[in-house]
Amino acid sequence: MSIPWSIDVFTLFPHWLSWLEEVRPIRNATEDGLLDVRALDLREHSPLKHRQVDDTPYGGGAGMVLRVDVVAAALEGHYGTSVEQLRERRRVVLLTPAGPQFDDAMANRWAEEQQPTTILCGRYEGFDHRVHEHVATEEVSIGPYVLSGGETAAMTIIDTVARKLPGALGNHESLVDETFSDALDGGSEYPHYTRPAEFRGWTVPEILSSGNHAAIAAWRREQSQRRTAAQPDPETT
Ligand code: ADE
Repeated sequence: MSIPWSIDVFTLFPHWLSWLEEVRPIRNATEDGLLDVRALDLREHSPLKHRQVDDTPYGGGAGMVLRVDVVAAALEGHYGTSVEQLRERRRVVLLTPAGPQFDDAMANRWAEEQQPTTILCGRYEGFDHRVHEHVATEEVSIGPYVLSGGETAAMTIIDTVARKLPGALGNHESLVDETFSDALDGGSEYPHYTRPAEFRGWTVPEILSSGNHAAIAAWRREQSQRRTAAQPDPETT
């Protein structure tokens, strides 16, 4: 059996990530030995009194900054290796709103490469910049907005990549025809309907009950194209 893809998440609040143990694609992938996700405490190896992790910013200003010595101690204490060596062995991802944006193409690449990954979740004003420069191998944002911390970003990323692992989704779910898939030319998914055929006068398009598979496929394609065209262009909005 191959080794599971290791994703370690360093956070000040490891218990927040317990959702990852419950949610289906991740749990399936874990139980099938495809994925090994761990939530680890950034404080655990703090060399400071009271396991302090942050400090006031040089130059003044609001908020607190996560210290580089604390981050290095957390990683070196857990992995038993220097940060320099760790960067050669693992992808070390720092979550920040300013990083390159995570998208479906990045998720596909990660799921294909399955490089052992360490994710650093910031809080407060974020990390001392030396973490960006000397500890992380890359930065990632999940979108152009500021979260109160990286934990929900980490869960979003892990959920997205886990469901791409072979066997993580149940038989009834499919990656083939979903939004952003190649089958839909990267566009939006077509609408789905189920029983009842009519509810409060709201009906299901007749073609879906016609039994004509070619016509249904053509209708779905057209609906997908129409919905994609209706999406605002991120370049101009
Ligand atoms: N931390 C705060 N905001 C974030 C974002 N948009 N993406 C990733 N990490 C973040």
